[in-house]
Amino acid sequence: MPVSYKDLGLANTKDMFRRAFAGQYAVPAYNFNNMEQLQAIITACVETRSPVILQISSGARKYANQTLLRYMAEGAVRMAREMEKAKGADQAVPITLHLDHGDTFELAKSCIDSGFSSVMIDGSHLPYEDNIALTRQVVDFARPLDVSVEGELGRLAGIEDEVQAEKSTYTHPEQVVDFVKRTSVDSLAISIGTSHGAYKFKPEQCTRDARGVLVPPPLRFDILAEIEKKLPGFPIVLHGASSVIQEAVATINKFGGKMKDAVGVPEEQLRQAARSAVCKINIDTDGRMVMTATIRQVFAEQPGEFDPRKYLGPARAALVEMYKRKNREVLGSAGRYGSEI
Ligand code: G3H
Ligand code: 13P
Ligand code: ZN
Repeated sequence: MPVSYKDLGLANTKDMFRRAFAGQYAVPAYNFNNMEQLQAIITACVETRSPVILQISSGARKYANQTLLRYMAEGAVRMAREMEKAKGADQAVPITLHLDHGDTFELAKSCIDSGFSSVMIDGSHLPYEDNIALTRQVVDFARPLDVSVEGELGRLAGIEDEVQAEKSTYTHPEQVVDFVKRTSVDSLAISIGTSHGAYKFKPEQCTRDARGVLVPPPLRFDILAEIEKKLPGFPIVLHGASSVIQEAVATINKFGGKMKDAVGVPEEQLRQAARSAVCKINIDTDGRMVMTATIRQVFAEQPGEFDPRKYLGPARAALVEMYKRKNREVLGSAGRYGSEI
């Protein structure tokens, strides 16, 4: 039996993006695969009064079990409401459950039927007309149910478990109006130089600062500006937006890891993007790295510890702090639904 997200207390992205656009900030879209990540995302976003998009990739669905993840998201909404009630918040932060990088109509439909309030259909690797046809098929199913749909034009470089693109291709601004008109999507992911994962730029693409830290080439804000001109007021999405926090890289490497030359998108550039038409910023890798850094440190410093709560607990606490800081300093989404609690 299909279930509507409306009965689960979830929100689609319509009102979220309208407010983000007007307020010149971006809604965080944080990926999760397990309980600690989900707890940290909800805690950070409820306490900073930030709207939030909980993202589930098809890889996450396979890893954690699709039914379990969907009920975890439903539980997360209840947890958020209880926290708000306990702390006397006078409004609720909106929470969206979103499919990240959906690649087939069947996957998008299955997520919508199980209570997702938003789906991405990523046909960016397909020929243009095929991308339009697939995206349109998903919109036709989602629209009557009030479920939001994100499409993508242009290809990001980078490699994830299920998301791969050998080479990036920037979004062609001359295609965006036609794509949005013919697909009727609610938001559009674009390619302006970000990429997935922890190695977003090759060292040869970067310069080095005085301390020898890699400085990546700037994002293509000129392409973003052209797209904004062609689609006034339309919500744009930025994938591959982790900063690859250098403290986390250093901790991982200090405690036995090997993440040489890991580099991400500088946070000032993401803040700049969040002030523009970019209404949704996707962050997964930073969460993975902060978790790994903390766990490596606990293992190295307390080798006798074997209770998972003793390393997953500190990892969760570090995640809460990282997400709060992102909401406040990078996305600008903190304090948008009342004062912090
Ligand atoms: O954009 C991709 C996300 O980081 C999800 O990655 O497919 O490894 O779960 P994943
Ligand atoms: P990062 O790998 O930069 O965190 O990007 C995540 C993402 O785009 C999820 O769709
Ligand atoms: Zn992505």
